[in-house]
Amino acid sequence: MQFEQAAFPVNRFRRLRRSEALRDLVGENRLSSADFIWPLFIRDGQGIEEPIHSMPGVNRLSVDRLMFAAERAMLLGIRAICLFPYTDNALKTPECEEAWNPENLTNRAIRGLKLKFPDLAVMTDVALDPYNSFGHDGLVVDGKVLNDETVAALVRMTLAQADAGADIIGPSDMMDGRILAMRTALEDAGHKEVVILSYAAKYASGFYGPFRDAVGASGVLVGDKKTYQMNPANQNEAMRLIARDLREGADMVMVKPGMPYLDICRLAKDNFCVPTFAYQVSGEYAMIKAAAQNGWIDGEKVMMESLLCFKRAGCDGILTYFAPQAAAILAEIR
Ligand code: PBG
Repeated sequence: MQFEQAAFPVNRFRRLRRSEALRDLVGENRLSSADFIWPLFIRDGQGIEEPIHSMPGVNRLSVDRLMFAAERAMLLGIRAICLFPYTDNALKTPECEEAWNPENLTNRAIRGLKLKFPDLAVMTDVALDPYNSFGHDGLVVDGKVLNDETVAALVRMTLAQADAGADIIGPSDMMDGRILAMRTALEDAGHKEVVILSYAAKYASGFYGPFRDAVGASGVLVGDKKTYQMNPANQNEAMRLIARDLREGADMVMVKPGMPYLDICRLAKDNFCVPTFAYQVSGEYAMIKAAAQNGWIDGEKVMMESLLCFKRAGCDGILTYFAPQAAAILAEIR
């Protein structure tokens, strides 16, 4: 700080901490359910809510059940959801054609959602891993994840999602050049208002474990994702990736995982002044849930604290599996 502060007892910091009213009055950051993007796992079938063991409280939903979740989101003041498909192994191929099938699970779900809940923003994931027999986000040839060929496939996937009515496209693949290719294709196809939220700084992280169970990719992945996702050691590289993706046409950027990467969130916000999101990923969710279930932490307290910390670190919004639980607390309708 540049300025002098009065010494004790002229200045007593505890004066402003004395009551909840005063603490709230001078609180520098505040959570709102409008800050949340709620990630939801979808699967084929009817009437299905299938628990994901490594993510207590999170289910895979058939599209009819997804509609109830969307309704719940609207009632709780959550303005955006993000879809992740659990794909049957029979639909996974080396070429990943199912990714751009206009009638695939995700695209059917988007159409259903936009028909019933036109005011709810629907975000999608753009990466090939749900459809890839090798479990990678890109096309694999001779054990290598190809960049440019993958980008061409991702463009097809993006256009199919935009045609279905997606509001926000979320490329999570970490290939080079994908944002420009997607933005150009969207403009050319007349999808001029589709938003791109780039997973710009996505790290090769151990915190994605439970997610890979949730989408059925755990047993499938050959090797790891270190040739395209970032090294957790790097900070400068994150800034260069964000700058690049913004130049290529991203409207918003994301840092992922969340809590262990708050330094990246703060730097991103300070350097670029653009809408900045963090993804509190499956492993972060699982850790909080597991400790709470053991009685080792107060789950609700830690949930709300962890979410508030994202705001303090400069994030405009948070992708979090806690979205409905936290929104209910914020709305005081538990
Ligand atoms: C795949 C994708 C992953 C997540 C979102 N999209 C996993 C991965 O990169 O392996 C992780 C989300 C989470 O852990 O909650 N493109």
